Amino acid sequence: MQPDFSDTARKNIIELRDVGQSYDGGKNWIMKGLDFMVEDKPEQGQFAVILGMSGSGKSTLLRYVAGLQKPTEGRVLLHDKPLTDKERVSMVFQQYSSLPWMSVLDNVALGLRYQGVARKERNEKAMEMLKIVGLAGHERKFAQYPTLSGGQLQRVAIARSLLANPEILLMDEPFGALDIRTRLDMQDLLLRIWHQFHSTIVFVTHDIREAVYLGDDIYILKSQPSQIVRHIHVDLPLTRNKEVKRSPRYTELVHEVEDAMLEVAELGETPG
Ligand SMILES: Nc1ncnc2c1ncn2[C@@H]1O[C@H](COP(=O)(O)OP(=O)(O)O)[C@@H](O)[C@H]1O
Ligand SMILES: [Mg+2]
Repeated sequence: MQPDFSDTARKNIIELRDVGQSYDGGKNWIMKGLDFMVEDKPEQGQFAVILGMSGSGKSTLLRYVAGLQKPTEGRVLLHDKPLTDKERVSMVFQQYSSLPWMSVLDNVALGLRYQGVARKERNEKAMEMLKIVGLAGHERKFAQYPTLSGGQLQRVAIARSLLANPEILLMDEPFGALDIRTRLDMQDLLLRIWHQFHSTIVFVTHDIREAVYLGDDIYILKSQPSQIVRHIHVDLPLTRNKEVKRSPRYTELVHEVEDAMLEVAELGETPG
């Protein structure tokens, strides 16, 4: 039994309009006039990547979409409507956000428990999801390091997020703490899951190669104040694999994004 993602084929799924953020009553604006839009592609979902230097406002942007923070000014819309607390939005953080005193199974089933789903049913659904992320056999272990590796703990977080049946999956540098081998494996796992569920993913990273490998569309964020300054469409085949990474077009895109990031870094250095 799999979560039902059938009603996600809509347009303009996420929109930020003229968003600004100040933490000192409007003296300094860390974000100003930021516009951002993610359009859903029917039958495919969307994989949007936000790329930016540290401190450029990537996490802030995700917190707006998750409804965890309200901008000082501007509008945050889902399906052309202001956020309500009933949105199906899930977030995966860089740091392993599992509860270490609970089993892997209980961690994954946590959202369903809050929804009042009976134990037998929620455990069955959690097991299904654990199989999808390749963690079958680990369900009784405590969700803690080093009982589980960093990569396995991130799989627990992804399984929990997916089981909440999100329409939008927000991922804040989810593979940032992983070694390179695990990171590459997790990228492929995430792509497989995405092709299966067609959800809308907004993925934050500062890794250019990761951005080009995963994304359909890359949005580059500048800082001081934060604004989306470039949109690069990734015209690689929909199914990404090692061959894609070896293709001349992949390398070209990495260079294109690298150049754009360097330009943006210079923008960030100008005072004001
Ligand atoms: N609660 C806060 N008070 C003041 N400044 C903040 C607060 N939260 C974030 N910031 C500032 O906002 C900017 C963007 O932060 P963040 O969204 O975390 O960036 P990123 O995720 O791209 O590294 C940073 O300059 C950070 O210092
Ligand atoms: Mg961040």
